[in-house]
Amino acid sequence: MKRLFSLMTALIIGLITINVVYADDYYEYQMYQDFARNASPERIQQGKVIYEQNCVRCHGVDGMRTPRRDVMPIAFMHPGKVFEELMDYRTEDDLFDWEEQAMIDVTRKLSFENLEAVALYVGTLRAR
Ligand code: HEC
Repeated sequence: MKRLFSLMTALIIGLITINVVYADDYYEYQMYQDFARNASPERIQQGKVIYEQNCVRCHGVDGMRTPRRDVMPIAFMHPGKVFEELMDYRTEDDLFDWEEQAMIDVTRKLSFENLEAVALYVGTLRAR
């Protein structure tokens, strides 16, 4: 009986965990979609200028150059995901890999508004 009880408990905890994980992905997806709705031709144009000045030299004009072997081309990323990554580099303190340093330096030079614009622009590279 005791064994059955702990088995049931484990099962319930497992189910709850799976639910939380999926709900989390769902909210993340919603957040990305909401973010992409901020795109307007003006914001994208603003992002293009920022991209050309700050990102091209490492990520390429088309976002297909990979500055590091184990990162995928940013042209494949959803703009919401790009923004999330940029905000991580911009705000987190516990990154110390020297290759991440490039991203830390570049994102800390830019305002949140500019990071948003550049992420929206990177989102348009996918379609090409
Ligand atoms: C000096 C070179 C350099 C510049 C300039 C640069 N990046 Fe990066 N970028 C990198 C490197 C190296 C990585 C991988 C770092 C890591 O491993 O965390 C990276 C990672 C990224 C990632 C995350 C990719 C992933 O799959 O996790 C995004 C998004 C990104 N860069 C966007 C940009 C944008 C937008 C700009 C311009 C504002 C920019 N980068 C400027 C070198 C650069």
